[in-house]
Amino acid sequence: MLVSAKEMLEKAKAGHYAVAQININNLEWTKAVLTTAQELNSPVILGVSEGAGKYMTGYKTVVGMVNGMLEELNITVPVALHLDHGSYEGCLKCIEAGFSSIMFDGSHYPIEENVAKTTELVKICAEKGMSLEAEVGSIGGEEDGVIGRGECADPQECKQIADLGVTMLAAGIGNIHGKYPDNWEGLSFETLDAVQKLTGSMPLVLHGGTGIPADMIKKSIELGVSKINVNTECQWSFAAATREYIEAGKDKEGKGFDPRKLLAPGTAAIKATVKDKMELFGSVGKA
Ligand code: 13P
Repeated sequence: MLVSAKEMLEKAKAGHYAVAQININNLEWTKAVLTTAQELNSPVILGVSEGAGKYMTGYKTVVGMVNGMLEELNITVPVALHLDHGSYEGCLKCIEAGFSSIMFDGSHYPIEENVAKTTELVKICAEKGMSLEAEVGSIGGEEDGVIGRGECADPQECKQIADLGVTMLAAGIGNIHGKYPDNWEGLSFETLDAVQKLTGSMPLVLHGGTGIPADMIKKSIELGVSKINVNTECQWSFAAATREYIEAGKDKEGKGFDPRKLLAPGTAAIKATVKDKMELFGSVGKA
């Protein structure tokens, strides 16, 4: 059964490790993430962006697929199904469809509007026993069609949003989605430290997990990050392994064209990436 991310993240914050949010894109992704989490006895959060939800033909399909897999694969570790960077309307749709967690990304609104919309969603999520992630300070990167240094959140605004009763808070600390540019200045630990001091036990979320060096990941966990999002890195792993298979001409050998064979190396590559992340984040054995 899907669970809210609240308990797993509170445990992670108290235990000084982080739970991975791995974004899913299709059946292979979902199966790879769930089986790896089970093998490593780790909690996990399945992230679904609005675009990926549309690609998978809608949130109801995603909920059906994930719930089916939890049962058929005998997944017993805590799993949350989470909307990534949701609009207000997207959040309402996912609540209706049976997600167990949502992120409302109100970072592009003036703070008053972010507060008003987040307040509404806090109320609904509390009634449904769901977890809610809010964002302050927008996280730039390729997803928004812009590449550049991510914004740094205003710690006072972070406190204001945290005090509304959200479950976890994404604060921009110079992180961005996708590939980090060569001239990236790194994470702003000064901002993270200030945010953590004002928000106390609130689990903090680090977006743009792809390409952040291991020492920065460790330091951010020390400073209160309890959830780290990874998407692009699994896409790179999948693409590289699939390319290798095709370039070796394996799709032309026997029944190598069968999608169950053709997509197998990519799926195994996602599993390896997820395992690396769970080991680095310290969530192995914490289910
Ligand atoms: P990356 O694609 O950079 O790993 O970021 C994922 C993310 O933050 C999803 O919200």
